[in-house]
Amino acid sequence: MKKPINLHTIPALQEIYIREGVKLRLLDQSHAARLLEILEADSIIRDNVTVASRMHTQKDVANEIDSYHKDEGLIRYVLMRDDNPIGLVSLWRDDGFWGKKNLDDYGFGYFLDQSERGKGLVTSAIQSLMDIVVKNLEVNQFVAFCEDLNKTSIAVLSKLGFRPTEETFSEPNNGWIERKYIKPVK
Ligand SMILES: CC(C)(COP(=O)(O)OP(=O)(O)OC[C@H]1O[C@@H](n2cnc3c(N)ncnc32)[C@H](O)[C@@H]1OP(=O)(O)O)[C@@H](O)C(=O)NCCC(=O)NCCS
Repeated sequence: MKKPINLHTIPALQEIYIREGVKLRLLDQSHAARLLEILEADSIIRDNVTVASRMHTQKDVANEIDSYHKDEGLIRYVLMRDDNPIGLVSLWRDDGFWGKKNLDDYGFGYFLDQSERGKGLVTSAIQSLMDIVVKNLEVNQFVAFCEDLNKTSIAVLSKLGFRPTEETFSEPNNGWIERKYIKPVK
């Protein structure tokens, strides 16, 4: 079987323009304090986003940075407005975290500063990422996992053309029941 490509080696995935003054940049330690502030201001985020549920201190953020750099199928981005972090977006290859491996499927996770919501920023960021991923990788489908009560995230997914499946999964770290959403590419 062909070895999946290391996402970190794809130049187009290193920094992504979203709109005037807004871009996705690789998560690094300089973003930690601001991200922790965003999480403190809205406790809902840690109840909905796996990586956020593990981020409580600067050291936790450092661990996440270390682990995504070692993972060839994972990139974590900070959504930046000018030079200010306003959210986190993750791109991952489906390597079996949710059960079966689907190495041609790519998924997303995200959260945004409360005060930046409702402007389509995460929707645009995921759309830009999907455009780049299809140009640079062999993709069968895009996937996302989301709780049925999370109406704002479901709104994002439906605007992006994802549809709900009949499959639900227990999120391995926290046990949240999440529905699988898919957007076929082929
Ligand atoms: C999900 C989330 C990232 C959406 O980001 P966003 O950039 O605000 O997304 P959009 O602007 O496209 O808006 C999505 C929906 O949010 C709702 N919304 C609109 N204005 C809003 C506001 N000011 N505040 C909160 N939600 C708002 C609307 O339902 C909107 O859908 P619509 O455009 O069809 O009306 C954000 O709500 C968030 O960080 N939530 C907490 C973390 C989370 O749940 N992550 C996903 C886990 S699966």
